Amino acid sequence: MEITKNMENAVNVHMNEELASEYLYLAMSAYFEGENLKGFANWMKKQANEERAHAMRFYSYLFDRSGAAIFDAMKKPAVKWSSPLAAFEAAYKHEKYITGCINKLHDTAMKAGDKATMSMLKWFIDEQVEEEASAKEIVDKLKMVGKSVNGLMMLDQALGKRE
Ligand code: FEO
Repeated sequence: MEITKNMENAVNVHMNEELASEYLYLAMSAYFEGENLKGFANWMKKQANEERAHAMRFYSYLFDRSGAAIFDAMKKPAVKWSSPLAAFEAAYKHEKYITGCINKLHDTAMKAGDKATMSMLKWFIDEQVEEEASAKEIVDKLKMVGKSVNGLMMLDQALGKRE
């Protein structure tokens, strides 16, 4: 069944949120590159790629339902963060915001009786649990590391291994 105009708009709003997430994490990756924390930069770059993949799921879904993908203007992300911890706290906060957006979109689909969109969103509801957990894990580790340069270097090395 073709997607309704209202649901098409709501899905597009969220597709753009995923693209904005990609943009934010790329900006964070650039911040880490500038700090010579290559492992952190790698983690953020891989995260940005994931966000692009998330956006593309919505993009394909819109066409599968005979809708259209419509792109918004992108908000300028920050250039710098005060510390690696501040950047990851911002990332964690952002993931909680995205979870809220997914939940709202699911509510909209439920009210509209759009079972296909509800079913598609199931993957994202599960994914957000992981997204929040992985950002929080790094926030917690950065707090443990505190001001230890050795600890920061070890964490940088570990994050550099993210495929
Ligand atoms: Fe696409 Fe990090 O949520």
